[in-house]
Amino acid sequence: MARILVVDPVHPDPQAIASAGEEIRRGRLVAFPTETVYGLGAHAFDTAAIERLFQAKGRPATDPMIVHIASVSQLDALAQAVPAAARDLALAFWPGPLTLVLSKRHVVPDSVTAGRPTVGVRVPAHPVALALLHSAGVPIAAPSANRFSRPSPTSAAHVLADLQDAVDLVLDAGATPIGVESTVLDLTMSPPVVRRPGGVTLERLLEVVPTVMSRADVYADETPQPAPGQLLRHYAPQHPLTLYVGTVDHLALRLSEDVRSTVARGLKVGVLAPAEDLVLLAPRVAAVAAAGRVVTRRYGARRDPPESARDLFRALRELDAEDVDVILAVGPEPEGIGAAVIDRLTRAAEGRVVRA
Ligand code: TXA
Ligand code: MG
Repeated sequence: MARILVVDPVHPDPQAIASAGEEIRRGRLVAFPTETVYGLGAHAFDTAAIERLFQAKGRPATDPMIVHIASVSQLDALAQAVPAAARDLALAFWPGPLTLVLSKRHVVPDSVTAGRPTVGVRVPAHPVALALLHSAGVPIAAPSANRFSRPSPTSAAHVLADLQDAVDLVLDAGATPIGVESTVLDLTMSPPVVRRPGGVTLERLLEVVPTVMSRADVYADETPQPAPGQLLRHYAPQHPLTLYVGTVDHLALRLSEDVRSTVARGLKVGVLAPAEDLVLLAPRVAAVAAAGRVVTRRYGARRDPPESARDLFRALRELDAEDVDVILAVGPEPEGIGAAVIDRLTRAAEGRVVRA
């Protein structure tokens, strides 16, 4: 049974943090908020704790974990042959939602990196995460604190729903501000490649390192290429999800037709969409909605992509908990952080993508 400590997100109680730091040093599992999503943390050099972490998540041992550090000064203890571009990026974006994949040093256990010669490292920006890292005094390996293949957790309630019995302590500081995970950038190749779009947008990376390549540049075909161990099913909801991408005007007709035809097949439909799409959809599906055959959930708005990112996983969990048979999800605009949202929804859709 997990112990829960509620802390202020900006000025966490030092005693709560000291207690959590002690738990980490003793090999326990501590869930904590970062600016992206909640992480499930363990002492990165304690192989027994790492083993428990993999078991708690139900995660295949082929999936490497991100190592969190308190400041850039700890980077060279974990990584070697750090290229100049990595230092520029760390200077520009740390603390923040950017994970740098670099050649690892021997001290990083193979279990953390799933046997790879590389390690993903980041300095998180959330005051609670930073305080915990300072207090623990050791690097913290932390995947997102969800059960494998569940949406990532953006609140302590999500963590408890998935990991209640497996986690020793949860630091509850409310909802996480960004809502999608960090950008994973591989610097072991030149030019560097984005392995997972996330909190730091491609546009911002290019301002610092103009040669950075997106996955779309590397793989011309449009199938999403998972990061190592990041299976396509990673974010799969319990009900089959179809993703719709396109402009709000083009999608409105197709989406409403699909809602009505799905209801006509006797199914109950959940719709997950930005505000603008729901406004256009409502009058077109009024009849089936009045009959209780459609449940809608708004996540943010097309005019406010960061809000869509923040709402995404909560709305997805809520809709998945409804007694719907299928979920039709509308993607945001693909620019900026919208790229990360579309990436997560594409994985949840397991390839069922409608472009209109
Ligand atoms: O925002 C985040 O990144 C959150 C918070 C808790 O920091 N963490 C997170 O961890 O999302 P996780 O384990 O759910 O996702 C880690 C991603 C995976 O896609 C993994 O493949 C990639 O980072 N990754 C980690 N180490 C890597 C490595 N050495 N080489 C390539 N990819 C790596
Ligand atoms: Mg994850």
